[in-house]
Amino acid sequence: LTANTKDIWLIACGTSYFAGELCVSLLNKYSKANVFTCLASEFEPFAHKINENSVIITISQSGETADTLSVLKEVLLRGAKIISLTNASYSTISNLAHLNIDIKAKKERAVASTKAFSSSVIVLYLVFLSFLKSRQEISQNEYNTFIKDLKDIPKTTNIVINQLKAQIEKLAELLFKKEKAIFLGKYSNYIIAKEGALKLKEITYIHSEAIPAGELKHGPLA
Ligand code: F6R
Repeated sequence: LTANTKDIWLIACGTSYFAGELCVSLLNKYSKANVFTCLASEFEPFAHKINENSVIITISQSGETADTLSVLKEVLLRGAKIISLTNASYSTISNLAHLNIDIKAKKERAVASTKAFSSSVIVLYLVFLSFLKSRQEISQNEYNTFIKDLKDIPKTTNIVINQLKAQIEKLAELLFKKEKAIFLGKYSNYIIAKEGALKLKEITYIHSEAIPAGELKHGPLA
């Protein structure tokens, strides 16, 4: 990623894709660079747009996901540069990339990939903040504020969890008896809604769906 980079593609699967999408919303808001997001399993129709000026950013907790891997092989043939974020620095994806960043989330012991999600978001956010600063698309002051906000996350999370513990438990009691759940969100919160819906269905088998809040009235409400 340089000050002259024009086309950036974020390509990944599942939770890793949502982590990337969340960071891309920062670029969409502040950068003039062209930024595209695509699920690896939906990439085929877009392949012809990739060339030696494209930078592909991929995230993979395992570093071995077949859908992601097949896209990376394709974009390499088209001359693109690949930056990967993985939680497995000796993996097929990290070996294939021109640059691999180890997100250092430590071993994922459960299916949910929650540590990898938050670590990927933080690491890619830092990469994008440096990118925006190098292109003077954010000022030094804005950069410092973002960094301070990132550093405050553990403190803020603890405050939220402590303050809402009783409400969270009450909600969980209500939810576990339900068969369906809909997650609503707008802008970056829609991405969080998608990740929330994925987590709920994957872990509890409760059917869940994420809908952009503004789209509720355009069909789903019926
Ligand atoms: C979510 C989950 C999947 C993975 C997806 C990508 O909890 O397990 O959605 O995130 O299969 O896997 P990686 O990140 O290993 O490429």
